[in-house]
Amino acid sequence: FRPGCLAGLSVLVSAGPTREAIDPVRFLSNRSSGKMGYAVARAAAAAGARVTLVSGPTALSPPAVAEFVAVESAADMYQAVMARAASHDIYIGTAAVADYAPEYAAAGKIKKTAGELTLTLRKTRDILAAVAALPDKPYTVGFAAETDDLEGYARAKLAAKNLDMVAANWVGEGKAFEQDDNALEVFWPGGRRTLPTASKAVLAGRLIDLIAERYGARAAV
Ligand code: C5P
Repeated sequence: FRPGCLAGLSVLVSAGPTREAIDPVRFLSNRSSGKMGYAVARAAAAAGARVTLVSGPTALSPPAVAEFVAVESAADMYQAVMARAASHDIYIGTAAVADYAPEYAAAGKIKKTAGELTLTLRKTRDILAAVAALPDKPYTVGFAAETDDLEGYARAKLAAKNLDMVAANWVGEGKAFEQDDNALEVFWPGGRRTLPTASKAVLAGRLIDLIAERYGARAAV
């Protein structure tokens, strides 16, 4: 990427999965490794931005960023992001936030019985949409992982969540999640660009370049 393309700007990145407690020893989660988000945070810092990284639990060591905030649940991540979003120029939501969480976490370990166990799940709050709805919203970038109609869903997400950009990737067997390589199809109102398969580190640099370019184009209007 172009050195210094984000100099003087602040970037808030969310990354990783969330964990939704069922009881003190069990949770619901997903296969996000956090690799893409950490690579984006690293690339933004290398491009000269002041970076805050809000991360769900991952096996990665935190990158050298201005602020690193460790969270567990979608509700924790919502609080951490919303407390900081308005004071950043750019928000990049790479986290795989749980869409549903158990309606309550049992206080004690749930015991095994002969019968079935039913969990009731409640929808979590959409962090990305909440950031994009702020009156002083940062330039807001969302991620989309899809198994079909990538452009259709990405464009719908752009409009429905009032985003400035969506970076979409194909998921499924051997794609994106837990992998070191990825490819992105990036959409913004009135444009699109393909970022072909590369390591997540290289791809993150190209995405940061594109964000800097589009952010500059918007600021110039
Ligand atoms: O609509 P969908 O969940 O597919 O959108 C994915 C994007 O929304 C990602 O950028 C993800 O970080 C964000 N998201 C969020 N809060 C949620 C669910 C998704 O910020 N509760």
